[in-house]
Amino acid sequence: MQITINGRNIEAAEGSTILQTARREGIEIPTLCYLEGVNDIGSCRLCVVELSGSEELVPACNTKVKEGMVILTHSERVKAARRMVLNLLLSEHYGDCFSCEKNGDCELQKYCIEYGVETTEFTGARKEKNFKKKDAHPFLSYDPDRCIECQRCVKTCSHVTGRGAIWLGKTGMFSIIDAPFGEDWKNTLCESCGNCAQACPTGALTVKRRKAYRAWEVEKVRTTCPHCATGCQMDLVVKNGKIVDAVGADGPSNHGLLCVKGRSGSFDFVDSPERIRYPLIKNKATGEFERATWEEALSLTASKFTEIKNQYGGEALAGFACSRSANEDIYMLQKMVRTVFGSNNTDNCARV
Ligand code: FES
Repeated sequence: MQITINGRNIEAAEGSTILQTARREGIEIPTLCYLEGVNDIGSCRLCVVELSGSEELVPACNTKVKEGMVILTHSERVKAARRMVLNLLLSEHYGDCFSCEKNGDCELQKYCIEYGVETTEFTGARKEKNFKKKDAHPFLSYDPDRCIECQRCVKTCSHVTGRGAIWLGKTGMFSIIDAPFGEDWKNTLCESCGNCAQACPTGALTVKRRKAYRAWEVEKVRTTCPHCATGCQMDLVVKNGKIVDAVGADGPSNHGLLCVKGRSGSFDFVDSPERIRYPLIKNKATGEFERATWEEALSLTASKFTEIKNQYGGEALAGFACSRSANEDIYMLQKMVRTVFGSNNTDNCARV
């Protein structure tokens, strides 16, 4: 169907939203509560746009296009409405940006800067409630004073990871995200995957490791998670040459998600002094392991395999692959066992 956005004639797909169509055409519309494919409840109203013939501004994130629609995404009326939304959100946002882990990486902060909203004109009511921070969880923490109740975390936990460990508690202006990070966190459905924190647009729900860095101090390095053969894509967050965090990236098998191992178990071991960083060969005379070159280690291994095969036959050998290896490496191992050893004794510890 044909629509017009900011004076441009655009062909839009039936069933698509104004936001999807605008983004496809490179027209940026600000969003906070919207998370593609996960949350389109339309609660924040930051994405409102003007429709000719309509008195109301409508949210672009969940309004479907109609034939002949004429849309303005950045009219003065729209910009004023967005400033008002940010103004109201700030009135209930008591966090201090300087001390916030998400400083420099906060979507609310980004839009406040973009729309020139530095302070709020309103007095929020939530402060009276004195909501407590939930901080007993080892990896995750929730600060209600920084929460905009967009429910991206709630939808991610229930609809994407399928746990349903987070929900919206209380009602009205005192509604609060009921995050399972209190003293009883072990008795909840939470698997500590942290996908909720990755979905949070502000510093409300955070991975505790973020305390150690700010967005402008780090670089991200795309890699594949080393913890199983699923092949989840992740970005390692690197500060001064050291890995300080891991975040899910959009890979074909994980679409931005990570499990608890991927997010919280991927880097502590990297700089461990106990890591073996080079081959070791046992000195027969002393019984001690001594540093060797790869050439020496591989030649020794190959000669031992050959000795065993010559003496007892290929069936005396077996190859057992690690489930953390990539599928391609595991395939190569079984190929070597079958063709070089001449044995079908091969397996993978993923089956144990
Ligand atoms: Fe559309 Fe929040 S992004 S209402």
